[in-house]
Amino acid sequence: MLDFFSEDVPWAEPLAEGAVILRRRARDEAAGLMTLVSEVSAQNPFHHRITPGGHRMSVAMTNCGNFGWSTDARGYQYSVQDSATGKRWPPMPERFRALAAACAAEAGFEHFQPDACLINRYEPGAKMSLHQDKDEEDLRQPIVSVSLGLPAVFQFGGFERGDAAQRVLLEHGDIVVWGGPSRLRFHGILPLKPGIHPATGAFRYNLTFRRAFR
Ligand code: SIN
Ligand code: FE2
Repeated sequence: MLDFFSEDVPWAEPLAEGAVILRRRARDEAAGLMTLVSEVSAQNPFHHRITPGGHRMSVAMTNCGNFGWSTDARGYQYSVQDSATGKRWPPMPERFRALAAACAAEAGFEHFQPDACLINRYEPGAKMSLHQDKDEEDLRQPIVSVSLGLPAVFQFGGFERGDAAQRVLLEHGDIVVWGGPSRLRFHGILPLKPGIHPATGAFRYNLTFRRAFR
């Protein structure tokens, strides 16, 4: 019998043209993803970076892949090495790459091959101010964002910082894909509310997959 009230199956929730939330899409494999996050962060520990303006980011970051995104006194950039350690970023696990490519395709972006994965760790109160992802070379490639652990309010706005933004709750296993006409929309995360999640404890993790260079 069909169960129309089942919450066990992922579903797609359109956000805007070129943008969709794949609800619960990563939930069944979340434990495996978290193990890989731990392996990456054992090699390159989470770190609160300092913006070019001298502010300590409330979100702690690490990366995996051929390139990593980071910020320091010189600015925001993708690099082969972590400027904080001088070492290359850990490789991107195949499972990460496959999940990002599959979700991009489900959202209508075929052949997405991420070369960078930024991993953000939010503690209570941590936030991400409205910004555009625009340091990538080929803006035809989408962004794939995987949320794990504590829920957070995602703001998804327009093309100017001051434009009205939708607010949607992102929960454990939700994946957002945005590209095409939505690629340069401003987005951010409101301050995380405290809580304890069975999969991640007192944190929220977010993985964003990008194609940094052609
Ligand atoms: C980001 O824009 O890099 C992070 C978004 C999120 O944490 O969901
Ligand atoms: Fe972003």
